[in-house]
Amino acid sequence: MKIAALLLAALGLIGLAFVIYLLVDGLRAVLERWRNERRLRPLALVVRAREEVAGDLLRLTLAHPRRRGLPRFDAGQHVLMLAPAGPGGRAIRRAYSLAAWHPRPTQYELGIKREAQGAMSSWAWDALLPGSVVRVSPPRGEFVLGPDDSELVLTGGGIGITPMRAMVHAALARPDSSRRIVLLHAARHAEALLYRAEFDRLAELHPRFSYLPLVSRPTAAWRGERGRLDARRMLDAVSRPGSAQFYLCAGMALLESLHTGLLAAGITPAQIHWEAFGMAAAAGGYGQAITLGDGRRIETAGEPSLLATLEAHDCAPPSECRAGSCGQCRLRLEAGEVRWMLAPACRLDDGDILPCVCQPAGDLRIRAA
Ligand code: FES
Repeated sequence: MKIAALLLAALGLIGLAFVIYLLVDGLRAVLERWRNERRLRPLALVVRAREEVAGDLLRLTLAHPRRRGLPRFDAGQHVLMLAPAGPGGRAIRRAYSLAAWHPRPTQYELGIKREAQGAMSSWAWDALLPGSVVRVSPPRGEFVLGPDDSELVLTGGGIGITPMRAMVHAALARPDSSRRIVLLHAARHAEALLYRAEFDRLAELHPRFSYLPLVSRPTAAWRGERGRLDARRMLDAVSRPGSAQFYLCAGMALLESLHTGLLAAGITPAQIHWEAFGMAAAAGGYGQAITLGDGRRIETAGEPSLLATLEAHDCAPPSECRAGSCGQCRLRLEAGEVRWMLAPACRLDDGDILPCVCQPAGDLRIRAA
């Protein structure tokens, strides 16, 4: 009798412990979900400053409406801007690199290039005035500085200088570091060399930082380097190419040529980190039939990418980088062939495609991956 009572009490205790365990576990999961949602919830920020540079570049400074601190980030990361900039006021989102870094940020700085057919950049140009409110995601992205202390070669083509500037800030913020930093910035005109005065000043202050601006269409007044950026110029700027880390951010064509040139010179893929902005301007084909997973059939109409075609028909997958690196837009190709405009920079299973960096090479059948 006594043994039975003891057994019953023990079972009761085990049951109670199990219930407590389930409660704690459930509470932890709820807390985790709440934290994640909070981390990903868009921020409504106010435009504190706006500056137009060289006719087509926009510098925006965003801050919390009540001047609170903003989520921290790693240099090189971006935010997604969310705006009713699509056809008929449809909401779209675009990634913009954070152009300045601070360990405890109170503002985010963005650089936006006005693209002739860029719905978001046109919207930002017209709508974002000082005092306007804009929604952006918390910072995100994998294009960040690695932890090692090897020589750093940062290369920005045009507006691709924005994440590089944040990386310069972060790399110079380590006073105990002797890491050598080389920054190359290629632009068509000297006026488009964003942040030039700041980089000149930093190069004077920090002997371990070199700034190499390069102009492809200079006026007679330009005294600096002239010509186009290529891998050779990057390699000439570095003292030990075999151990340096190369970070590139540029339009797709320049990025592709720099990437190929570095690999051909013996730089390993692990030493090269890149992020593209914008989309190749080359138009795609017309009248190619795309059959979707639900049986719907749409046709291309000269869009620059398969993703653009899907967006035009309201059936696009989520997208972030629009440059083949985040993997967000991944789809499964069931029939047909695509033409890659840029080699994917993330791992793909056989048959997977990234519609942001490819165009149909004929009729296709696709479905969600
Ligand atoms: S949107 Fe990032 S890979 Fe396509």
